[in-house]
Amino acid sequence: MVGYAFMGAAHSQAWRTVNRVYDLPARVRMAAICGRDAGKVADAADRLGWETYTTDWRELIARDDIDIVDVCTPGDSHAEITLAALAAGKHVLCEKPLANSVAEARAMTAAAATAQAAGIRSMCGFNYRRVPAVTMMQQMVAAGRLGTIRHVRAVYLQDWIVDPQFPLVWRLQKDKAGSGALGDIGAHIIDLTQFVTGQRISGVSAVTETFVKERPLPTGSSGLAATVDGSGPATGQVTVDDAAIFLARLDGGGLATYEASRFATGRKNALRVEINGSLGTLVFDLERLNELEFYDATRPAAEQGFSRILVTEGDHPYMSAWWPPGHIIGYEHSFTHQMRDLVEAVATGADPAPSFADALQVQLVLDAVERSARLGSAWTEVEPALAQVAV
Ligand SMILES: NC(=O)c1ccc[n+]([C@@H]2O[C@H](COP(=O)([O-])OP(=O)(O)OC[C@H]3O[C@@H](n4cnc5c(N)ncnc54)[C@H](O)[C@@H]3O)[C@@H](O)[C@H]2O)c1
Repeated sequence: MVGYAFMGAAHSQAWRTVNRVYDLPARVRMAAICGRDAGKVADAADRLGWETYTTDWRELIARDDIDIVDVCTPGDSHAEITLAALAAGKHVLCEKPLANSVAEARAMTAAAATAQAAGIRSMCGFNYRRVPAVTMMQQMVAAGRLGTIRHVRAVYLQDWIVDPQFPLVWRLQKDKAGSGALGDIGAHIIDLTQFVTGQRISGVSAVTETFVKERPLPTGSSGLAATVDGSGPATGQVTVDDAAIFLARLDGGGLATYEASRFATGRKNALRVEINGSLGTLVFDLERLNELEFYDATRPAAEQGFSRILVTEGDHPYMSAWWPPGHIIGYEHSFTHQMRDLVEAVATGADPAPSFADALQVQLVLDAVERSARLGSAWTEVEPALAQVAV
């Protein structure tokens, strides 16, 4: 694993847990973790349960006893680490968004396709797909329970930078993060809704805004938990969006709206998706992640109404290995489910999802949103994933 902070900790917990919960065809050994600071990564290895540590990710890739490389760094290093790992014959799990640009995402997808021919697997970390209620939503839509999809309404809202004195952490710098709320949290709702509906966003009209354009430089940690410290004289430019809102068309004919913001005061990590179809509606709210709201318009009119499904039964997705019905699970379980699916795919020679090609498609939507916003919200088609070849 490369990176030991937020996602590093979440993934480590999942790697530690996955064999204890699921009966898998392979056993995970947490071989080595990498970070740039020797003291901190040594502490992280001890705390998170890794056998060894290094300050140079190239050492991980050079080791013969490492099969999977898990990339948990900011987006500016995803492409370099992933391309080197795939070239060395390692399976790769790369955090989202796949890259900081379409060009990088295309190169990574091409490398993954080449590696796949040699039996090497790759996967992007859109973990919300693996919340059981979200997977169930996808299964219900695929089974036709909503009929024809008419609307997707998706929001992902946070408020951690409402204070203008919150420092200029890496997530607020384009060269490190690629984009702001758009790529960080907007990417999740793009992937989630495309996964659930089985439809792709074909075009967008967008607005983005950077409300606070200059911030104090951070004095300590540069993660989400950076301390608010506006006492120093040094400041820097915010070079990403604070919020992105867009309308979209789905290639199956539906209309969709998306809102990603870090300025939704009071909303800590509020991800909500509603899907309206000709036969019903499904609603998912991350703050109630064990539940699904379902309106079934095929029931007798007198009995119609939203019902609450508690997604904790043994025959609900991923739940057979957890607790008795009604004993709820949480955010971290989505990462354990992610590792389960990856280990199973690697061990059985299957391709895990979301693939790099799926993640490239999300990147193309991010790119279309940015281009539309620059053009005063002009309608902007999402580029095809494969370059068109004239015959
Ligand atoms: N799936 C999710 O829900 C989710 C949630 C948060 C973040 N993410 C993604 O995970 C990635 C990491 O985000 P985070 O919140 O964990 O960030 P973070 O700031 O908490 O951690 C980043 C880690 O990467 C390390 N690092 C940075 N550059 C490095 C390099 N060149 N070599 C070795 N280590 C390096 C840092 O030291 C730190 O340990 C990002 O791509 C982010 O978008 C995904």
